[in-house]
Amino acid sequence: VKHLLGIRDLTRQDIELIFQTADQFKEVLQRPIKKVPTLRDTTIVNVFFENSTRTRISFELAEKRLGADVVNFSASGSSVSKGETLIDTVNNILSMKVDMVVMRHSATGAPHFLAKHINVPIVNAGDGINEHPTQALLDAFSIRERLGGVEGKKIAICGDIMHSRVALSNIYCLKKLGAEVTVVGPPTLIPKHIGAALGVNVSYNIRETLEWADVANVLRIQLERQNMPLFSSLREYSLAYGVNRKLLDSLKKDIVIMHPGPINRGVELSSDVADSGQSIILDQVENGVATRMAVLYLLGRNE
Ligand code: CP
Repeated sequence: VKHLLGIRDLTRQDIELIFQTADQFKEVLQRPIKKVPTLRDTTIVNVFFENSTRTRISFELAEKRLGADVVNFSASGSSVSKGETLIDTVNNILSMKVDMVVMRHSATGAPHFLAKHINVPIVNAGDGINEHPTQALLDAFSIRERLGGVEGKKIAICGDIMHSRVALSNIYCLKKLGAEVTVVGPPTLIPKHIGAALGVNVSYNIRETLEWADVANVLRIQLERQNMPLFSSLREYSLAYGVNRKLLDSLKKDIVIMHPGPINRGVELSSDVADSGQSIILDQVENGVATRMAVLYLLGRNE
């Protein structure tokens, strides 16, 4: 059984195949009838142990556009609150003849653990601070769409690198596609040794980094994953590292602005920048459906 647990496991060829497949699904999504019957005989369950807006809706739409039957499970309101384990929960769902699992969980490695115990494909929709592979795929797909390619592009990943699964999956994906990556943020939010370990540049100076970059992917401060605040206030963070119009106007060029959502407006990103022509934030969300259709189709086909 093949899974999508992380970008770390993929080759550049795998990623390019996903993009070529997503190109075709993006075309389908422009048509009046946006559905294809590719996964008509497939039942997919979306198992979310952690909150989500974009990823859950995007997967559900992707599944329905492919003609799959879809079941949604949220931990809140389920028998997890009565003490049922992850593996019992999923095995009970699978005994109802489900063919594929999409899972989000707050624990790093939860989908990898599950993959050892079940025999249907699993797609990781975000596990703790580890990976969020479909987010990285839709991000790189959106860069490719806006700039014509990813190879050789200079991408800044800004903010809370330490607690962000989006950052890690983006780094793996962008590096495999030949981009140059700089992570920038306060020293307390950037893991030590990340530069040598993952082949990225490290900077603590947002203005210098954006002057270098073609694209800034701005991340939310993941307060829910921090045991104690790693800076004195969100206001202090915003003043030092917030991406706003004044900062962008001080650069000698226009750069593309991205954000995986949800945005904390006025903290990591100002509203005027988020809603400007430089921002491709809603393109990222739109591309999420075609990209996830590609992943589900390729996994379903290999079954
Ligand atoms: N980008 C992202 O994962 O958003 P959600 O948490 O709303 O799914």
